Amino acid sequence: MSFSAKLQTVGKSLVHDSAELHVQGSALYIDDMLEPEGLVHVAPGYAKEGARGKIKSVDLSAVRAAVGVIAVLTAQDIPHKNDCSPTLGDDPIFAVDDIQFHGQVIFAVVATTRDQARRAARLAKIEIEAVAPAVTVQDALKEAKPDLLPPYAFRQGNVQKTIAAAPGQIVGEFEMGGQEHFYLEGQIALVIPGEKGTMTVYTSTQHPTEIQHCVAAMLGVDDAYVTAECRRMGGGFGGKESQAAQWAALAALAAHKTGRPAKCRLDRDDDMMLTGKRHDFHVNYQAGFDKSGRITAVDVLLQARCGYSADLSAAICDRAMFHADNGYYYPEYHIATRRLKTNTVSNTAFRGFGGPQGILFAEQMMQAIAIQTGKDALEIRKRNFYGRGRDVTPYGQKLRDNILLDITTQLEKSSGYAKRRKQIDAFNKQSPILKKGMALLPIKFGISFTFTQMNQAGALVHVYADGSVQLNHGGTEMGQGLYQKVAQVVAETFGIDVSHVAITATTTGKVPNTSPTAASSGTDLNGMAARNAALAIKERMTAHAAKMWKVAKSQITFANGQVKAGRKAMRFGALAAACKAERISLSSTGHYKTPEIYWDRATGKGMPFYYFTYAAACSEVLIDTLTGEMKVTRVDILHDVGKSLNPAIDIGQIEGGFVQGMGWLTTEDLVYDAKGVLRTHAPSTYKIPCASDVPEDFRVKLYESKGNVMDTIYRSKAVGEPPLNLPISVWCAVMDAVAALKPGTVPKLNAPATPENILKAVKSL
Ligand code: MTE
Ligand code: HPA
Ligand code: MOS
Repeated sequence: MSFSAKLQTVGKSLVHDSAELHVQGSALYIDDMLEPEGLVHVAPGYAKEGARGKIKSVDLSAVRAAVGVIAVLTAQDIPHKNDCSPTLGDDPIFAVDDIQFHGQVIFAVVATTRDQARRAARLAKIEIEAVAPAVTVQDALKEAKPDLLPPYAFRQGNVQKTIAAAPGQIVGEFEMGGQEHFYLEGQIALVIPGEKGTMTVYTSTQHPTEIQHCVAAMLGVDDAYVTAECRRMGGGFGGKESQAAQWAALAALAAHKTGRPAKCRLDRDDDMMLTGKRHDFHVNYQAGFDKSGRITAVDVLLQARCGYSADLSAAICDRAMFHADNGYYYPEYHIATRRLKTNTVSNTAFRGFGGPQGILFAEQMMQAIAIQTGKDALEIRKRNFYGRGRDVTPYGQKLRDNILLDITTQLEKSSGYAKRRKQIDAFNKQSPILKKGMALLPIKFGISFTFTQMNQAGALVHVYADGSVQLNHGGTEMGQGLYQKVAQVVAETFGIDVSHVAITATTTGKVPNTSPTAASSGTDLNGMAARNAALAIKERMTAHAAKMWKVAKSQITFANGQVKAGRKAMRFGALAAACKAERISLSSTGHYKTPEIYWDRATGKGMPFYYFTYAAACSEVLIDTLTGEMKVTRVDILHDVGKSLNPAIDIGQIEGGFVQGMGWLTTEDLVYDAKGVLRTHAPSTYKIPCASDVPEDFRVKLYESKGNVMDTIYRSKAVGEPPLNLPISVWCAVMDAVAALKPGTVPKLNAPATPENILKAVKSL
């Protein structure tokens, strides 16, 4: 596809279609929908104590007797399949014989009000024959069967030998924490039962097809009897890729049992305890490098806390491996992962999907080499960039679009890196307690689902006889602006104003067999599918106009709401009406699959990503080495989005992603006690960033791009997840600042760089 033609709608910073509604508070989320007559409410129930062990007894008599209770549901009430797993079938909707983490759902209460359901759920008397849970990675390693899923590695060369022979060696070990999604709209579903066992499920999910499938399988009906619909989510961030299913299943089961509409909306504390988070990792590595700091071989082991079940952990840990290189060429490597089973909630997708964890390893290693050798960290990073003759990744993909050096060098100049580096060093020399730090680093993020089959999308477009257009596709809106971008693509295709493109809710009834909206590919996939649908209609309209006007089809243009050929012209709507009168169909589906990509997991080689999104960030911090307090004083970002479909939305994604990632790496600390109870299950103890945490001096720019070298929608690039990685520069800047206390010694800093962890790093010197 060429993007050289003058574009009218694509590329414009049009406002998000829901922006006004968002600020007015009138955007309809599921809990805002008018409640249907006879609605019942569902609340999950679990054992107050115990994280692992046999369920000895379950006494629900007090629950049943409580005010407002209509029904109490357990596994025995499920007509067919007691499972809501997206992969291996190991996530029971209701635990039966044993529980595997604290908070695992054992029953559900159906009551007249939500409050009654929640109060009643607490009256259960459940006894667990509790066994000591494996809570941490270290605990898991002591178990007889520590691995939830088989270990997996990429390997090339005699790594240990090469490291031993290298002029320089580095050894490192650190931990990085997980992250709670903290979407503003919690998990929720509203189910309306229909005739003949049909169910309409309004669900806050990134994956309507999965909800449809889970509900149908649970009830034992054909998928076609269940329709899942999502107009928008109040944030998903990966937390609703697979884990919206259980709550939809509970509501559907209640609707099935009572014949009444049913709603399940998790309380915030339950949401935090009962749904999975970003995987935390324990990292051990060794690397060899030459005199210039250029790496000769890397041996890394990434060990993930997966929780009790598989969920998406296989693909997440794979993506951590795919990103353990970030922008750096490793001539020899052993990139290994272990996927450990713990008695904690099943960890799940979170913006970046394991990628940020892999990149954090690579960047910690770069920073450590710089500190140990006394060289500038940016110089070390550049020495190791992919480049000519050094352009094949550990998974065999050759880089075709490498802009690492250019984007980094541009940011180096625009951020005044060299001068500020000197100023910071001078400041640190005369300031014994307050220390400044800075880090500039690039990001390379692979775009496509690594499970090749998932890289497809469908759309359904209708043109009405008045020239208005209704747009539907399989992608879901979670705030990222997907609906707006795809509407701009369709408006562009028809040459009409975007106000005539009506955006509609995502529903399995209109577009079937969809992939989740994830892997940052929402626009790439659905934008193309919608364009293909629109092009099919446009082709029929073009043919009709050509026939009417007796001109060649190639002479016909669509722009400014007009269809023209030479001096002949008519309104788009008039042509639509003329087509209808001629009995020409004005409706079409569209489909798209990403070309070229393939992945062979057995050999660990292929082209799993269609392309890479690149970015660079430079962050400066100030720390107090007596208290561990930290402040981000300036951030400069340069982000490649190819040819942007909507620069305002893209900048919003970059700013939001950065701040969310900063939360992961600086303030958000998930604390489980030895009994496996999550102690940070509310914003009172779990600190997400707020407006005042946005860096004071925050400079975000889009990279001047000639467009994606690959044939993506108008040569744009995915932007959803990549920016979450950029605050790794903040974390590395903290390392840099701490290291100023004792040059040459690598501080032992874990993530997040909370004041506690910064103090520990200071003390490690
Ligand atoms: N932006 C907002 N506002 N809310 C979200 O939930 N999710 C992120 C990202 N940006 C998210 C977001 C994640 S995890 C992904 S994978 C992408 O958006 C998904 O949307 P896209 O593929 O359309 O970019
Ligand atoms: N990214 C996000 N979600 C996914 C992926 C991926 O690569 N694979 C399966 N679900
Ligand atoms: Mo995003 S973690 O791929 O939903």
